[in-house]
Amino acid sequence: MLQAMLLLLVATCTVAQSTTEIGQAVDIDCLVGFEAVNGVCTDVDECQRLNDDGSGVLEEDRRDICGNYVHSHRPGYRCVNTPGSYRCERIVDCGFGYRLNETLGVCIDIDECAVLGYEAACGLKLPIKVCINLEGSFRCDYRTCPPGRYLDRTTGECNPCRRGYAKNLLDECVDIDECGSRKDSCPPHMRCVNYIGGYECKHKIFCPMGRRANYNGTLCI
Ligand SMILES: *[C@@H]1O[C@H](CO)[C@@H](O)[C@H](O)[C@H]1NC(C)=O
Ligand SMILES: *[C@@H]1O[C@H](CO)[C@@H](O)[C@H](O)[C@H]1NC(C)=O
Repeated sequence: MLQAMLLLLVATCTVAQSTTEIGQAVDIDCLVGFEAVNGVCTDVDECQRLNDDGSGVLEEDRRDICGNYVHSHRPGYRCVNTPGSYRCERIVDCGFGYRLNETLGVCIDIDECAVLGYEAACGLKLPIKVCINLEGSFRCDYRTCPPGRYLDRTTGECNPCRRGYAKNLLDECVDIDECGSRKDSCPPHMRCVNYIGGYECKHKIFCPMGRRANYNGTLCI
């Protein structure tokens, strides 16, 4: 299609050109946007040109044909050369986390988890976290383990809590307070003493050396 267009334009150009003999040299009049190269009307690449002739313009103020500062690292327009002309296309800045789909002309979310991969996105080798893609962003959350298991953050494994420990909302194994959580941990006449990883039932009375509490814990015998 483009080739057909080019041929058509070259053909038009040939029809329009006229030659003038000046001594040995041959001058050709070409259509606007074309210039004579070795006696043939050739398309001018306007994208290579500046929008001024350079006179009285400071080097840092020089702009290309689309108006971009020549030294700018973030031009606003992209120059596209066409047979006999050119066009300036707006460069759409989609911003962080998005990229332009040039076909559709719309900004679409970048799936960082897929593009970067888990290791680069979350900065971890072990599967301690999971990468979650978001609109324009992404997040790395700690894995959740099945009920009764906690995430060992040094290995990334889901392990069961040790005896006397239970999983809390932060996915940590914490000591169970058997005295607070269960009323029947100790017989009624004994007091319950919680310690990390377990509990103990103690007599309510304190007996001096050499004596001990009776079964009831009501008397020292
Ligand atoms: C742009 O979107 C179209 C339609 O969804 C899709 O076919 C094409 O692959 C996309 N191009 C890029 C570069 O993502
Ligand atoms: C507790 O001790 C008292 C006094 O020795 C006794 O009468 C009672 O039967 C005991 N109760 C239990 C449950 O053993």
